Amino acid sequence: MILLDGKVASASVKENIKATVSAIISNNQRVPHLAAILIGNDGASETYVASKVRNCKEVGFQSTLIRFDNNVEEKVLLDKINELNNDDNIDGILVQLPLPKHIQEAKVIQAIHPDKDVDGFHPINAGKLVQGLPGIIPATPLGIMLLFEHYKIDTKGKNAIIIGRSYIVGRPMSVLLSSNLLYGNSTVTLCHSYTSNLKELCLQADIIVSAIGKPEFIKADMIKQNAIVIDVGITRVNDVTSVKGFKLKGDVLFNEVKEKASAITPVPGGVGLMTIAGLLKNTLAAYQKKMN
Ligand code: GUN
Repeated sequence: MILLDGKVASASVKENIKATVSAIISNNQRVPHLAAILIGNDGASETYVASKVRNCKEVGFQSTLIRFDNNVEEKVLLDKINELNNDDNIDGILVQLPLPKHIQEAKVIQAIHPDKDVDGFHPINAGKLVQGLPGIIPATPLGIMLLFEHYKIDTKGKNAIIIGRSYIVGRPMSVLLSSNLLYGNSTVTLCHSYTSNLKELCLQADIIVSAIGKPEFIKADMIKQNAIVIDVGITRVNDVTSVKGFKLKGDVLFNEVKEKASAITPVPGGVGLMTIAGLLKNTLAAYQKKMN
C-alpha cells in the first residue's frame, strides 16, 4: 500500500514555487500577493485561512488577511472585492466559504475578477475547465491531480467514482479525471446524496474520491481490492481526550480501508495540504499571467 502523503507531495510543489519566487526577487520584481477575506469566526475557517496565510509566507509570497464581522453587509464585501480587483499589487483573491446566510455566495464569487479568482470558482474559470481551456482550476481538485502526478498514479482507462457534486471539489474533479490528461483519463461516475446504489458503484471503482463530509462513511466492505482511495473529507468530531476538544476525521475509515487499498490519503496530512499547494500554484500562475 502506498501512503499518498500530502506533506511530502505538497513540500515538493512548494519547493518549486519557492525557487520561482527566489528568481523573482533576484530580478528585483515584486513578489506574488494573495488577499484572503475571512468573514466571522468559524473555527474551521479560521484554521484554514491561517494555514493559507502561513503557507504564503513559507514560499515567499506576500499576503493580506481582511476580516469582516459575521453581520457585514453584502455591499461592503462586494466593494472590498472591487477594490482588490483594481489593485495592481494584488494577484489573487479568495473569500473563505461558507458565507453567512444573508450574503449570496454566487454574487460574491462572480464579483472576483476571473484572473484573480485563485479558488477557480468563477463561472468563467468553471466554463474554461469544462472546455479544456487554460484557466484557474479549483485548488482541491488541482491538489489531487498534483498528488497523482507526484506519486505517478496512472488513472488512464480506470473506473473512477467521485462522491459529492459541489463546485468546490466533486464536479471540477469529475471534469479533470475524465479529461484527456496524463493524470486524468478515467471513466468517471459522479455520485451524490440521491445515488441509490452507492456501495455497488464503489465496489466497481479503481479510484474513489470522497468529498461528502461524513466521518468514516467509507468502510472496507465498500471498496474493491487494490482501489486508490482519496479522502477529501475533514470533519471536526468532538473528542474530550484531545486538547482542542475535537479530532479531524476523514470520509474514510482509514485503518480498515488501508488494508485493502493500493494507495490512500490520510486525514489530516493528505488532501488538505494539497489544497494549499494548489492555491499557491494558482496564485503564482495568476501573478505570472499578469506580469507577462
Ligand atoms: N471552504 C471550503 N473549501 C474551500 C476552498 O477551497 N476555498 C474557499 N475559499 N473556501 C473553502
